[in-house]
Amino acid sequence: MTRPLLHATDLALRFAETSKDVAALEGGEVQVHRGHIVALLGRSGSGKTTWMNVAGLLVRPDSGRLTIDGTDVLSLDDTGRTVFRRDHIGVIFQSFNLLPQMSAAENVALASSRGMRSGRARAEELLDSVGMSRRAAHRPGELSAGEQQRVAIARALVNEPSLLLADEPTGNLDEETESEVLAQFRTAADNGCGVVLITHSSRVAEFADTVAVMRSGHVTMSTAQEVAEA
Ligand SMILES: Nc1ncnc2c1ncn2[C@@H]1O[C@H](COP(=O)(O)OP(=O)(O)OP(=O)(O)O)[C@@H](O)[C@H]1O
Ligand SMILES: [Mg+2]
Repeated sequence: MTRPLLHATDLALRFAETSKDVAALEGGEVQVHRGHIVALLGRSGSGKTTWMNVAGLLVRPDSGRLTIDGTDVLSLDDTGRTVFRRDHIGVIFQSFNLLPQMSAAENVALASSRGMRSGRARAEELLDSVGMSRRAAHRPGELSAGEQQRVAIARALVNEPSLLLADEPTGNLDEETESEVLAQFRTAADNGCGVVLITHSSRVAEFADTVAVMRSGHVTMSTAQEVAEA
């Protein structure tokens, strides 16, 4: 197989500053190929969000190796990480992180590396593609959780990332909207993106091409069938 878009090995991260010392990540391996959707499955507290924060270059691990698009991203300095993240990675947070005082369209356009003005046209296009064009002028507080989720997805896609990381992207959605949102991720993958979907849901995991299972900070890749039989 071709070189993976993302290759993470032996990532370790310990939260030690508080009185309770937690080993949040304890090794394992994840590979994400272009055009593929990987589900990252695991129980609450197993380290999925922490893994995403490391893969999204938001948090530095204590040790391990992480290559994205051929770049050894852990060797980048802070500026290099910010630029790399903007140009290569789209992140959808578990809690959306939309700016409350901005409209849906502004939230998407503001994330554009091409600036607000040309970002605006792209924002309209993307909001349309997630079925949100009629809510473009609404602020997050005026949107349902599922609608905010769709705005967050549009925002993550604004710079055409090669890697899309989504933390429980369908956690707030009914089944029908979930299917529509999953179709968005499939389209992104068909356009050459590598997608990581963090989820508790076996239905969402079944939709993925590969499953990575996180257990107490240790992650291993499995086929969907192995997961179903476990
Ligand atoms: N900033 C932090 N300081 C200390 N411990 C933390 C911190 N962030 C996370 N943890 C701990 O690390 C572990 C992994 O947390 P993480 O948020 O990655 O889990 P998760 O798999 O995303 O869970 P969920 O499915 O509930 O979102 C948990 O035990 C958590 O309590
Ligand atoms: Mg989480």
